[in-house]
Amino acid sequence: MAAAGVIALLRRCRKLRLNVYPCVHSWTTQPCAFKSSKPETLPNLPKDGAAHVPLLTFTEEEIMIKEMVKRFAQDRVAPLVQKMDEEAKLDESLLKDLFEQGLMSIDLDAKYGGTGASFFSTILAVEELAKVDPSVSLVVELQNTFMNKLLTVYGTEEQKMTYLPKMSRNLVGSVCISETGSGSDAFSLKTRAEKKGDYYIINGSKMWISLAEQAGVFFVMANANLSAGYKGITCFIVDRNTEGLHVEKKENKLGIRATSTCPVTFDNVKVPESNIVGQFGKGYKYAIEMLNTGRIGISAQMLGLAQGCFDQTIPYIKQRNQFGKSIFEFQGMQHQIAHVATQIEAARLLTYNAARLAETGKPFIKEASMAKYYTAEVATLTTSKCIEWMGGVGFTKDYPIEKYYRDCKIGTIYEGTSNIQLNTIAKCIAPEY
Ligand SMILES: Cc1cc2nc3c(=O)[nH]c(=O)nc-3n(C[C@H](O)[C@H](O)[C@H](O)COP(=O)(O)OP(=O)(O)OC[C@H]3O[C@@H](n4cnc5c(N)ncnc54)[C@H](O)[C@@H]3O)c2cc1C
Ligand SMILES: *[C@@H]1O[C@H](CO)[C@@H](O)[C@H](O)[C@H]1NC(C)=O
Ligand SMILES: *[C@@H]1O[C@H](CO)[C@@H](O)[C@H](O)[C@H]1NC(C)=O
Repeated sequence: MAAAGVIALLRRCRKLRLNVYPCVHSWTTQPCAFKSSKPETLPNLPKDGAAHVPLLTFTEEEIMIKEMVKRFAQDRVAPLVQKMDEEAKLDESLLKDLFEQGLMSIDLDAKYGGTGASFFSTILAVEELAKVDPSVSLVVELQNTFMNKLLTVYGTEEQKMTYLPKMSRNLVGSVCISETGSGSDAFSLKTRAEKKGDYYIINGSKMWISLAEQAGVFFVMANANLSAGYKGITCFIVDRNTEGLHVEKKENKLGIRATSTCPVTFDNVKVPESNIVGQFGKGYKYAIEMLNTGRIGISAQMLGLAQGCFDQTIPYIKQRNQFGKSIFEFQGMQHQIAHVATQIEAARLLTYNAARLAETGKPFIKEASMAKYYTAEVATLTTSKCIEWMGGVGFTKDYPIEKYYRDCKIGTIYEGTSNIQLNTIAKCIAPEY
């Protein structure tokens, strides 16, 4: 259908809807404030009649990457999952393979050694990996959506040429924002950077730094101008071997145990001014931006986790007999299973929609927060229900279900807790009315 035809049709439908749901002036003296009838819903129309493509439509390249990652996860990751969880250690040869397969630089420009695929491909890869191991998916998620993106968007050409080719080949990056005293209130951070000639001295302690054990480079948020408040926060590139940088003993965690999470301290760490990413005092802005898209990645991680857990559980439910029949046959079970499957589907649509909005340059902050918030909730529900449906065996380490149950909890905490997502969603809703 020609674009003009679609618009005309939509206009007709909109008129119809306004007639069906007229303003109820007895409720309020305000003019009609139904969000769905506001005209902003129109300019989001795709061009050339591509108006009604279902969200589960992928490009050929996206399908290829999804299938490739699915196979990689089954062949390469699955055999290592339990061992890595028990030993709380990422397998080194697996990390090497993640680089070799191009999974650490999926949407990075080929000019820097990346695969040059879409952001949506990264989302699909994270989802596929999380079905098998949410820890491994985090490794891919962070490098792609935070480290590579930060440098691509804000790095100088020299920084890009120095770091990006390595980050697509063998260099893991870590992002250092959180501290003991600043988690949700991230920008009250106390790490300082003091200017001394053409270099800076960084002093302070970071907490909860993902992949710090493996990282060769750290992206550190430090305040370089206290009197400017959060507008003093500046992002520095700090190489691991820099004197005064110490990675401390990793946390002993409930879930995602294969990914290291460590305190990192900076004791008079000297970095040249040229290691500032982007502009002085803009670190807070970059952190917010990276976390906004990063949340879609975490949403994909939780989505894959929920789906993977569900996929491992249902075949067992179908085979397991009690009272002379498969326990899947009981309506009491079927309704619960159908309820969870519906929530996973809703989570998938929220996640994919946020990803498509982000990659096509449309506003997506509210949708990303909704996706992350909701998908983490769905992962929690799914994994809890799957253990119940499996009965006693679901409670043992003979099956992978209990691991998904432990792994899912982090989805409500990092890259903004569930409450912080709700704050963001409410902040976006406020000016809409
Ligand atoms: C495994 C793991 C990996 C991590 N990786 C990284 C990393 O790589 N880099 C990094 O910088 N950080 C990382 N983090 C830190 C993570 O982002 C923080 O833990 C998170 O932001 C929450 O901060 P907090 O732990 O201090 O909790 P707090 O901020 O103390 O929150 C505690 C509770 O208070 C609630 N709360 C706080 N403020 C509000 C409010 N305004 N309204 C309503 N409720 C509120 C929260 O929702 C939460 O329920 C990681 C954390 C973990 C556990
Ligand atoms: C950094 O901290 C150390 C103590 O750990 C202190 O001796 C030093 O003066 C501090 N440097 C700056 C620039 O604040
Ligand atoms: C630090 O912040 C203050 C207050 O905003 C400002 O006046 C000053 O110019 C800033 N200093 C630097 C070095 O940017």
